[in-house]
Amino acid sequence: MSINEKRRAPVGVFDSGVGGLTVAREIMRQLPNENLVYFGDTARVPYGSKSKDNIIRYSRQIIHFLKTKEVKAIVIACNTASALALDVVQKEEDLPIIGVIRPGARAAVMATKNKKIGVIGTEATVQSQMYSKVMKAMEPEVTVIGKACPLFVPLVEEGFAKHHVTEEIIDFYLASMKKEEGIDTLILGCTHYPLLRSRIKEYMGEKIHLVNPAYETAMDLKALLEEMDMANDLQEKEHASYSFYVSDAADKFKQFANSILPYDIETTKQIQIEEY
Ligand code: DGL
Repeated sequence: MSINEKRRAPVGVFDSGVGGLTVAREIMRQLPNENLVYFGDTARVPYGSKSKDNIIRYSRQIIHFLKTKEVKAIVIACNTASALALDVVQKEEDLPIIGVIRPGARAAVMATKNKKIGVIGTEATVQSQMYSKVMKAMEPEVTVIGKACPLFVPLVEEGFAKHHVTEEIIDFYLASMKKEEGIDTLILGCTHYPLLRSRIKEYMGEKIHLVNPAYETAMDLKALLEEMDMANDLQEKEHASYSFYVSDAADKFKQFANSILPYDIETTKQIQIEEY
């Protein structure tokens, strides 16, 4: 493969479902020349209640699938897989793989003034304490308060972001974070949660700074591709190409993706991920 072909190779992005589209959307915005292959593991979502062993197994299979698409780098657009599988797969693979936790942690450490940071995410992410470990390595003085919000994922996946029950569930999970913990920064530590951002913002109030790790992750990907001299330099008038794969319910995924991406996707293919 020539160097130009390598630069034009896509970036692989994956999540347990639609959540990672919030990261893909940010990559499309910040790196408009990059071709993307997205995989949503819709047959096995949610990852947040699964064991570490299974999340590592799922991540390995997805990476093997993405490698068949000749990707030049992979973004794990899932906090749960970033927390539990990134270190393992990074050691096994010969291509660059980045996750969303380090970029999100950095943004929160930069934003906090009182050094009290809240992290909301899946059971698995919160239990791993990965955000806390990474932030304390960057700034030992920070206090990190984690809270698992498992019902946020099905609310998003089922399109309930604007439904009134969502308000009650936000109150159920975030009341103590809002009233007792004294945080000034809150990390949306699950890629589904930015789709509830305005509801969470409304509830937490203007004074709490919300961090969406997607923004910093796209910045890190840009820096990584430039450092490797792998950024795509498309000729004028060419368009980046985006392909979407899922492990189940392709039509539902497509409909959802079309409601949040800046353009309409035409096809989503279903694959048998267990074969990889
Ligand atoms: N969107 C995923 C994350 O960022 C996980 C949701 C799930 O599958 O539980 O953690």
